[in-house]
Amino acid sequence: MENLKGKTAFITGGASGLGLGIAKACAKEGMNIVIADLRQPAIDEALKIFKENNWPAIGVQLDVTDREGYVKAADKAEEAFGKIHLLVNNAGVGVPETKVWLDSYELIDFTIDVTYKGVLNGIKTIVPRILAHGEGGHVVSTASQSGLVPVPGFTLYNSLKMAVVTVMETLANDLVGTNVGSSVFCPGPFSTNLGQSTANTMSVHERPAPPKPKDGENPPAPPAPPADIDFSRIVRSIDEAGSRVVRGIKRGDLYILTHSDFKPAWEARANAIARAYPDEPETPGFKQVFSMLAYNPIFDTQKQVPAWKPDEE
Ligand SMILES: NC(=O)c1ccc[n+]([C@@H]2O[C@H](COP(=O)([O-])OP(=O)(O)OC[C@H]3O[C@@H](n4cnc5c(N)ncnc54)[C@H](O)[C@@H]3O)[C@@H](O)[C@H]2O)c1
Repeated sequence: MENLKGKTAFITGGASGLGLGIAKACAKEGMNIVIADLRQPAIDEALKIFKENNWPAIGVQLDVTDREGYVKAADKAEEAFGKIHLLVNNAGVGVPETKVWLDSYELIDFTIDVTYKGVLNGIKTIVPRILAHGEGGHVVSTASQSGLVPVPGFTLYNSLKMAVVTVMETLANDLVGTNVGSSVFCPGPFSTNLGQSTANTMSVHERPAPPKPKDGENPPAPPAPPADIDFSRIVRSIDEAGSRVVRGIKRGDLYILTHSDFKPAWEARANAIARAYPDEPETPGFKQVFSMLAYNPIFDTQKQVPAWKPDEE
């Protein structure tokens, strides 16, 4: 979707952190913004930024796990701006998980509901509306770098974000031939409010607070960084995140990535899997019978991404 001006973006978790950064970047492009978030006070706070800048925006209170509520929120967005063109499935939680056999079923279900089902609920509610108006559009879901390379100790987060990556790759295939695109945003570390907002959203869901990890149940903390490094380039700003996402939408990137420092970790994973395929000759006829399994052309759509420059914000 190259021209965003005058189009409408529906952004879940848009009241804070990365969602807010994406909302601001979309507004700078001249889009109408729908901030869909569970926390009304955070929505009210975020809307002040849009008012100050004369950016058209509304807030809708939405729990992405509430399917009927999702339909009502999409209706409200269409009442305000006519059509939705961009869906950003960004709402997420960072739960204090330990080792998966020690996590409560409440914590497991809560995390699956928000992280995975929330994305599916967004696609089911809004993609048919985008396809129906025919003006074209795009869907972005925020996964994580952890959805590409798992971080020890975070089974739920890693695996559900990996599921989101796969949802968006498959959606890209399913949308071939339409004028609607699909991207997965896999950020590295950004400065947001994930810990605090999760504590609030968990209580909204009336789930029992998860037990605090005991000593030895979490992986050891990484060593302290040297004193002379620019920490703001490691844990980056939400405005940079928003700018990178908008650039990815305009370019039609399948993957919107941030810190290139993760590339060796991804290569190590990909290479490990490549080495695990037995050293055997091709099975005659396999490529013809299972052509989409042997080779998926969707991956060829991803072109090399140039360096991002701060003046793109
Ligand atoms: N911060 C990081 O470094 C980082 C890295 C990788 C991925 N992510 C992902 O980015 C996304 C945004 O998180 P963030 O870091 O900006 O945190 P954040 O807490 O600042 O923003 C998340 C927002 O989602 C909202 N939310 C939570 N549950 C919701 C629900 N059920 N329905 C609607 N809204 C809900 C919260 O109210 C909050 O406003 C998440 O999916 C997170 O997993 C974050």
